[in-house]
Amino acid sequence: MKKRDFLTLLDQKPETVSMLLERALKMKEGKLGASHCPLIGRSVGLLFEKPSTRTRVSFEVGIYQLGGQTIFLSTQDVQLSRGETLHDTARVLSRYLSALVVRTYSHETLVVLAREATIPVINALTDRAHPCQALGDLLTINEVSGRTSGVRVAYLGDGNNVANSLMVGCAMMGTDFVMACPEGYDPDPQYLEYSIAMAGRSGGSVRVVRDPAEAAGGAHFLYTDVWTSMGQEEETERRRRDLGPYQLNAGLLALADPDARMMHCLPANRGEEITDEMMDHPRCIIIQQAENRLHSQKALLEWLIG
Ligand code: CP
Ligand code: NVA
Repeated sequence: MKKRDFLTLLDQKPETVSMLLERALKMKEGKLGASHCPLIGRSVGLLFEKPSTRTRVSFEVGIYQLGGQTIFLSTQDVQLSRGETLHDTARVLSRYLSALVVRTYSHETLVVLAREATIPVINALTDRAHPCQALGDLLTINEVSGRTSGVRVAYLGDGNNVANSLMVGCAMMGTDFVMACPEGYDPDPQYLEYSIAMAGRSGGSVRVVRDPAEAAGGAHFLYTDVWTSMGQEEETERRRRDLGPYQLNAGLLALADPDARMMHCLPANRGEEITDEMMDHPRCIIIQQAENRLHSQKALLEWLIG
């Protein structure tokens, strides 16, 4: 049987995403019991090129809760840093581990590792996609709204990795997704094209607009992410200038649905893409959103290697 990877939502079926969300909710509600340990005796590697708080901790804790163990491998600490190839690294790690969770700069690095590994590879964020984040986000939207179809999600700001994955996930789940960003900050064209076609089948919709007020109007969820992603630090000033009008603030919240919730994948730069007031607002659900990374990734691990 061909091994399964989880590299982007583009490779997954909407039915798989729905199944993972249902399973994640069961896990969160404790319906499977503390003795549900499908990863017993399994070791999972976490190979990270970039810093992480949520992704690392939620994977490590989730794997422990499922009965497995993790080995954290910062790329600086393994022989990749001294020139060992991705090919050799992937083949060797496949003989020790049951799965590899990977955070890289270039998406291509992830693709090469997945191609060479004989074990499932999970994308824990690349410059192009963050599908584990999207799973947790969809779980949160479903939990808050009791549904994903007919729900209006407005993403404000940079069309980055988080935006790409959220857009595809929303399109699969029949959500009405609108992204407001300036020219030059559009989502990945392949992800956009796929999402528009997918939304046509799922009953959702996907649009990119320039006016943040247009996107926020009537939205049930207002979502933003940092303007400068990891690896883009040299562009910080330009990004601040261009993305300033897209800040998630009280003005945009006033245009949204009266019960609208604020979302952010975190970490946030308070005072840039989102104000302090919005971060600490009673309708800001960022902590629930962060918790849901744990439950959705446990469902993912069970499906891939359980
Ligand atoms: N949202 C997210 O992936 O956070 P970390 O970078 O802390 O893992
Ligand atoms: N877009 C951000 C997400 C961090 C979780 C980044 O890539 O830095």
